[in-house]
Amino acid sequence: MRFSGKVAVVTGGASGIGRATALRLAEEGATVLVGDLDMAGGEELAGTSNGRIRFVRTDVTSEADILALLNAAAELGGPDILFNNAGAGGLRAKIDEIDAAGWDRTMDLLLRSVALGIRHAAPLMAKKGGGAIVNTASVAALAAGAAPTAYSVAKAGVLHLTKLAAADLAKDKIRVNAVLPGFIATNIFASSIGLEGEARERANALIQGVGQQAQPIQRPGRPEDIAAAVAFLASEDASFITGTHILVDGGISVGPRHSWDPSTPGLFEALAALAPTE
Ligand SMILES: NC(=O)c1ccc[n+]([C@@H]2O[C@H](COP(=O)([O-])OP(=O)(O)OC[C@H]3O[C@@H](n4cnc5c(N)ncnc54)[C@H](O)[C@@H]3O)[C@@H](O)[C@H]2O)c1
Repeated sequence: MRFSGKVAVVTGGASGIGRATALRLAEEGATVLVGDLDMAGGEELAGTSNGRIRFVRTDVTSEADILALLNAAAELGGPDILFNNAGAGGLRAKIDEIDAAGWDRTMDLLLRSVALGIRHAAPLMAKKGGGAIVNTASVAALAAGAAPTAYSVAKAGVLHLTKLAAADLAKDKIRVNAVLPGFIATNIFASSIGLEGEARERANALIQGVGQQAQPIQRPGRPEDIAAAVAFLASEDASFITGTHILVDGGISVGPRHSWDPSTPGLFEALAALAPTE
């Protein structure tokens, strides 16, 4: 019960990583405010939580909505914890095809929302004597190939913002860290191409299959894997940790596929086939 008496805010908490994290924080004693666009998902989660999780309809691209969510947490005596996590795939175009409006929408959703969440949580946390903020970035923040360009740039921005905010807010005993999920089987992939209902279920089954083999640890990444890292970063167990990140990716970023998958030959295996036999 690391979060007894604490009030946590989780954006994007109606689904996937946010939902698992809201449940984990509530399980460990927190009162959790979930902010999400998805009213059905948010209300369903709140309804099954014995009052530990409350839902506030929130669009994180709206500064007024972010303020309202954080003020609702202040009325409950918080926020002690903020998990800036809401997101979607964003603009899918490559750099030579992007359009300005799509770029702006992606940055507003994935980067500006995190900046404003921190901006408005900070005074409330400072008044309480401190707090913990965790931001969802991505392995896409570190290298090409994991996600579209605008999304990856926004997540790299989240990673750097995490460090800058940690520097600015340490004086108020506010820690700021990021979690970098790898390939986690959630609705985000199907939603980003507009699939719903049965088509989304079919896509999710495919994603589970791909997730099984996408990284050295041969099972799909689960939202609960991320929730565990977020709970750690938000807890007193991490009281000397700020301005950094935890990669939770099953090893997907250790190196090129041939470094961990014996069925994918690398250069040395290819050269070995040319070597004279003794
Ligand atoms: N699933 C992955 O493999 C993966 C990998 C790296 C990072 N991430 C990041 O994790 C976070 C959570 O994604 P997920 O995989 O759980 O996806 P998800 O689709 O299951 O959940 C995302 C949630 O965010 C909400 N949301 C979207 N736009 C919003 C808005 N404007 N305001 C409020 N809520 C909004 C959605 O309604 C949804 O409930 C995102 O930031 C995503 O970029 C996911």
